[in-house]
Amino acid sequence: MHRLPFTFVLCLIGARLCAQEPVVNTSHGHSTSLDGAWNFIIDPYENGYYDYRRQPLPDGFFKNEKPRTKSDRVEYDFDTSPTLSVPGDWNSQLKELFLYEGTIWYKKSFDYPVKNGTRLFLRFGAVNYSAVVWLNGEKLGEHTGGFTPFSFEITRQVKERGNFVVVKADNKRCLECVPTLITDWWNYGGLTRSVAIIETPGTFLEDYAVHLKKAGEISGWVKLNGPRLQERVSVEIPEVNARISVQTDDSGSARFAFRAEVSPWSPDHPRLYRVRISAGGDTVSEKIGFRTIETEGTKILLNGRPVFLKGICIHEEAPFRSGRANSREDALTLLGWAKELGCNFVRLAHYPHNEQMTLMADSLGLMVWSEIPVYWTIQWENPSTYANALNQLREMIARDRNRASVVLWSMANETPLGDARLQFLKGLLREARHSDSTRLLTAAMERRYLDRTTEMIDDPLGEFVDVLGCNEYIGWYDGTPEKADSVQWKVAFNKPLIMSELGGEAPYGNHGDSLTIWTEEFQERVYRHQIPMLSRIPSLSGMSPWILMDFRSPRRQLPGIQDFHNRKGLISDRGQKKKAFYVLQEFYKSFNKDH
Ligand code: GCU
Repeated sequence: MHRLPFTFVLCLIGARLCAQEPVVNTSHGHSTSLDGAWNFIIDPYENGYYDYRRQPLPDGFFKNEKPRTKSDRVEYDFDTSPTLSVPGDWNSQLKELFLYEGTIWYKKSFDYPVKNGTRLFLRFGAVNYSAVVWLNGEKLGEHTGGFTPFSFEITRQVKERGNFVVVKADNKRCLECVPTLITDWWNYGGLTRSVAIIETPGTFLEDYAVHLKKAGEISGWVKLNGPRLQERVSVEIPEVNARISVQTDDSGSARFAFRAEVSPWSPDHPRLYRVRISAGGDTVSEKIGFRTIETEGTKILLNGRPVFLKGICIHEEAPFRSGRANSREDALTLLGWAKELGCNFVRLAHYPHNEQMTLMADSLGLMVWSEIPVYWTIQWENPSTYANALNQLREMIARDRNRASVVLWSMANETPLGDARLQFLKGLLREARHSDSTRLLTAAMERRYLDRTTEMIDDPLGEFVDVLGCNEYIGWYDGTPEKADSVQWKVAFNKPLIMSELGGEAPYGNHGDSLTIWTEEFQERVYRHQIPMLSRIPSLSGMSPWILMDFRSPRRQLPGIQDFHNRKGLISDRGQKKKAFYVLQEFYKSFNKDH
C-alpha cells in the first residue's frame, strides 16, 4: 500500500479541520463594539453544556432561558449573574478566578439597526483558549487557539431588538493543545480582546495584501467575498498620487502592481501611508508602511541595507496592573519602554499579541518577531494538534500581513529535536511561505555543548528557516556569568543568527553583592558578561534578551522573590527599571555597527 508522506497526511487533515469563516478585517467602514460588561457564569463542571451523563444538552445555557411560569425550573440566569469586563482575562478581574482553569459562560444582549443588503459578522479579537459561540440560541461555531481573531457571519440571525450572544470560553490546558500542558506564562482565560459587529456590503473585501516589491513598485492582491465576485477594484495611495484599477476574476481574486514613489518604512523613519481599496460597495482604508526585508548570507537587509536587530522579548502582560495587555495604552507603554531601551526590534513572545501592539510597532518604528505558541513539548504526531497550529499560523498571518513592522514569522520556541517535530515544523514553514512570501521565517531553537567552552547551533530545523533563532542562558541556567568570557560559538548554517533569549532574574529593589543570586547586581553581572560574548559572534544579526518586563508564571513560586512571577524583566511589572536595563541600554545606544 502506498503510504502518503506524514506531512502530506497532516496537511490534508489540517486543511479539513481548519475550514473557518473569513476573519473579517476591522478596517471596514462600519463596526459596532460589544466591549463592556458581559454577564458571566462560572461552570467548572460544564453543567450548562452537558447533562449528568455528560451528554450534550439541547437546551444548555446558550438558550438563555427564562422561567415562563412561576412553576418553571430554570437553574441559571445570566441577567442576575455578575459581569466581567470585555476585553479582559477573568483571572485578574476576580480573586476567586485568579487560578481558575475551566469554562466560563459570557452573555451580551444588544439591539441592531438591521439594513437590507448589508452583511454582518461577529468578530472576536481572541478568546483563550477555546470558544463556542451562539447567537439568539443558535450555534454559530467554535474556535480553538487563544491568541488570534475569528469571526462568524450573523446576517441571517440578527434581529432589530433583543439579540443575545452567548460564549462558552474554556481555558483548560491539554496535552494535544497548542500550547501544550506546560508553559512559563499565566494561563489568562476568557474574552481577552475586543468583540465587535462588522458590517459590510453584500460583496466585500475579505482579504488583501499591499507591500513594497522593490523601490518604487507596490504589489499585492485582493480577495472578494460575496455574490458578485467579478468587480473593478481600485487601490490608491493618495499622498503620492498613485493608484491602479484591476478586475477580479470569477473567484473574486486579482493581483496588482503599480509604481509609487513612497519613502521606505524603517525604525528611524516609520513612514506610513493611507491606503484605500474600493471594490463594488466596499471600501477599506488603513495606514500601511512599505519596506523590504531579506537576508544575504549572515546579514539581514532592511530596504536593501544590513541592519542589526537590537531587541528585547515581551510577553503580553499588562504594565502596572496584572492580566493580559490589550489596549493601545498598554502597547504605547510597553513599546515606549523598548524604544527607551534603544531597541529597533521586539520579539512578541510566545504567541500573537493583540493588534494594538503591531499597529503601535508600525507607528513607533520597531521591527517585530511574531510567533505561534508551538512551545516546548507539543504533540508532534497528533493530526489535530498540527491542524490547530496550522490554523493559528494562518490567522496570525492573515491579521498582520499588512503590518510593515512584522518582519519575522516564528514557528516555534525551544522544541525538542526529533523527526516528528521536524516534519511538523517543516509543514508550518511551507504554509508560512505559501501564505506570505514577503517575510523572513524563523524559530527559537536550542544550542548544545560541543565541549566545555564551545556552544554549537546545528538544530536540523536551521536548514529550513531564513533566520536562526537561539535561546541561551549562560550565567543563569548554564554556569556562572564569567563562563561567557571564554565561550566560543559555532553555527552550522550560513544564515543570520538572532540570539532570541538570554538573561537572569532579580526582583526590583533586591540589592546585594553581585555573587548573590536574585539581586539586581547579579542580573547586571549576567548582562555585563553576555554582551562581550555576543559581540564575538560574526553571524550575529540580532538579539532579544529575555525580557522587557516581569510577568506572571505558575512555575515561579519562590516566596518574596518570585511569588508567581518570572523576574527576568529589565523592568518590574510596576514600571521600575532595574540596573541591567541600563547595561543593555548603554550597549544599544553606543551600538552603531549595522554590520
Ligand atoms: C525559556 C522560555 C521562556 C521562559 C524562559 C525562562 O527560554 O523560552 O518562555 O520564560 O526560558 O526560563 O525564564
